[in-house]
Amino acid sequence: MDNSYKKLLDGNRRFALSKIFDDPEYFKKLSLGQKPDYLWIGCSDSRVPANEVTSTESGEIFVHRNIANLVIHTDANLLSVLEYAVKYIGVKHIIVCGHYGCGGVKAAMSRKYHGFVDNWLCNIKDVYNKHCNELDAIANEDKRLDRLTELNVMEQVRNLAKTTIVQEAWQARPLHLHGWVYGINSGLVTDLCVIHNEAEDIETIYRFEHK
Ligand code: CO
Repeated sequence: MDNSYKKLLDGNRRFALSKIFDDPEYFKKLSLGQKPDYLWIGCSDSRVPANEVTSTESGEIFVHRNIANLVIHTDANLLSVLEYAVKYIGVKHIIVCGHYGCGGVKAAMSRKYHGFVDNWLCNIKDVYNKHCNELDAIANEDKRLDRLTELNVMEQVRNLAKTTIVQEAWQARPLHLHGWVYGINSGLVTDLCVIHNEAEDIETIYRFEHK
């Protein structure tokens, strides 16, 4: 039997001990509840852990991750996380964080068949198709992949702005949407500056009328 999983349990003991060493009340305070200001929608990729790359602690970021950080309007999982974070926790910022070198984006850019996951990745093909004039003009494949990664993040931020959940929140209070890309080879986040703060930032057809 492969015992490599034990490393995780050992690591957990070290984690718990070191936190208590620094602050004996650490877990007691966390157990009282959570009030994170941020919702992070990131890729499942093992190299982009939300807390680690932002130097934040437990309790600071509410996290949803899936392959290629997609915001799909029929994804009950994403919508449940989004509603809970916005309506009940009251997060102030939602960050869609993609990353360069994303396997999901790369797979979507090719015509290779992978199976079921291609249905999920089809959403990225739609992003490619929408921006095909710009993308097809980029001869270098790596650069084209980087640009599709950025455009994918921007489209997912727009998808957030189209949801009833975000638009309802905007009726009542400020809620900021951000699009970031993380560089696995640099450890640095680039802010794509696609901040959406209000429904006016998206096309009319997506804006719901409110009573
Ligand atoms: Co990825």
